[in-house]
Amino acid sequence: MKISVIGAGYVGLTTAACLAQIGHKVFCSESDAEKLRKLQNGGIPIFEPGLDAIVADAMRDGRLVFGSTDEAIDSAQVIFICVGTPPLPNGDADLSAIESLARTIAQRSTGYKLIVEKSTVPVQTASQLLRHLTNRSKLGARFDVASNPEFLREGSAVYDFLHPERIVIGVESQQGESILRELYAPIVGQTFNCPLHASCPDGHTVTLLVTDANSSELIKHASNSFLAMKVSFINMISDLCEAAGADISAVAKGIGLDSRIGSAFLNPGIGFGGFCFPKDVQAIVRIAEKFGCNFDLLKEVEKINQERIAQFLGKIKKELWVMRGKKIGVWGLAFKPNTDDVRFAPALSIIRELLLEGVQVQAYDPQAAERAAQELPEILYCDDPYLAAEGADAVLVLTEWPEFQHLDLGRVARTMERPLIIDGRNALALNDVVAHGFEYVGIGGVRSSGLSKTIQQKAVFAD
Ligand code: UGA
Repeated sequence: MKISVIGAGYVGLTTAACLAQIGHKVFCSESDAEKLRKLQNGGIPIFEPGLDAIVADAMRDGRLVFGSTDEAIDSAQVIFICVGTPPLPNGDADLSAIESLARTIAQRSTGYKLIVEKSTVPVQTASQLLRHLTNRSKLGARFDVASNPEFLREGSAVYDFLHPERIVIGVESQQGESILRELYAPIVGQTFNCPLHASCPDGHTVTLLVTDANSSELIKHASNSFLAMKVSFINMISDLCEAAGADISAVAKGIGLDSRIGSAFLNPGIGFGGFCFPKDVQAIVRIAEKFGCNFDLLKEVEKINQERIAQFLGKIKKELWVMRGKKIGVWGLAFKPNTDDVRFAPALSIIRELLLEGVQVQAYDPQAAERAAQELPEILYCDDPYLAAEGADAVLVLTEWPEFQHLDLGRVARTMERPLIIDGRNALALNDVVAHGFEYVGIGGVRSSGLSKTIQQKAVFAD
C-alpha cells in the first residue's frame, strides 16, 4: 500500500519506518529543513533502539522516502498525521499544526483520501478535522478521518509498533475501516519479517479494536492518564513506606502480584516526565472541564508528580546539610532509560534546583547529554559515570540506565569525597552498594541506614 506520514518526530519516524518494514511504500515528510536534510542523507535525528537499522534498510530499497509536506499529500491516498500537539499554557493541546496541515491537505487533494490521526488529540478532533477538510476542499476531494492512536514507549517504540498488544482504530466509514484493516494485517497476523529477531515474541497476539472516532481518541488520553495515576499512586505509597518504616520494593511486589492491579508502572521515583504523561494528564483535565466533568483525581496526580522534585531535594539536603559549594555527580539525564529525550525530564528539574542552591553538578548520561546541554549549558558533562562521581559529595541516580547496575562500584567509591549514593529510581542493588562501602539512600524506605531503622523499631517493640 502507498502511505504518507506527515511529521518525522518520534511517532512519525517510527510509524513511517515500521510501515515500510511490514511491506508498504512510505513517503515521510518533515517541515524542519535541517532535520529533513539529515533524514534524506541517512541520518536519524533521535536515539531510538533499532530505528536506524530499519530506516536504512527501507531507504536502501526505496520503500521509505523523505520529502516535503506537499509531496507527501500528493503521493498517497492514506495520510498519517504525526505532527506535534504541544501543551498551551492553559494545559490545552495546541492543535494549530493539525489545523494548518488540514488546510493544505484540503487545498491540494483530489479524489478520495483517508486521513489518519496518530498525533495525540482531544476527543472530537476527528469530527472537527473532517468538517474542516470538507469545507475547505478546493478540488472536490472526498475525505474520511480515522483516529489511530499510538501506544509507543520511547526506548522500545519499534518493538511496540511491530508487536503491539492492541491496535485501536476509530473510524466512521466502511471504506476507511477496510483500508486500515488491510494496512495493519501483517502486524495483526504477525506475518512480516521482524528485524528484532532475538526479542521477537513467539505466538504474540494482537487485538485490533475498531471503535467510533471519539472513543478511540479518548482511549489514548485515558490510557496515558491511568498509567500516570499508577505512578503517582505508588509514589505516595512510597512516601508512606518511608515514614512508617516499610519497604516500597516489598509493598510494590505484594500489590503487583494481584493480576487485577498488575506489577507494571509500580516503580517509585522522582516522578513521571517525558513529552506524553505530563501534557496528556493536563489535557484530559481540560477536556473533562469543557464537557462539564470535574477530574480533580487527575489534578492530584499532577500535583503529586510535581512535588516529587521537592521531596527528592529534601532527601539530598538531609544528607548533605549545607548545599552551597558541594559537588554532586548525576547519573542519568533522560526522562527514562533507552532514550535521549530530556523533555520534562525530572533530572533536569532537580539539577536546576541544585544550581540555585549553589551546588556544582557534573553529570553523565549514555545518550542524553547533548540534548541536556542545550537546555542546561551551565553544568559539567562527563564522558563516563566514573568521571561524574570523581570528587563528589554524593552521586544521584536520576535515570535507571541498565549500565549503572554493572559499574565497578569499588572504583567509584575510591574517587568520591564521600561515598554516598542517593538513588531516585531504586535502580541499584542495595546489598551490592553497601558491600562496596557506600551509604545508600533510595526511595520509599530503601536505604542502608533505613534498614537498621526498621530493625531499631523492632528492637523498641521487643524491649
Ligand atoms: C508513554 C506511554 O507508556 C505510551 O504507551 C504512549 O504511547 C506514550 O507515552 C505517548 O503518549 O506517546 P513514554 O512517555 O515513552 O510512553 O514513557 P513511559 O515508559 O510510559 O514512562 C513515562 C514516565 O513515567 C517516565 O518518566 C518514567 O520514568 C515514569 N515511570 C514509569 C515511573 O516513574 N514509574 C513507573 O513504574 C513507570
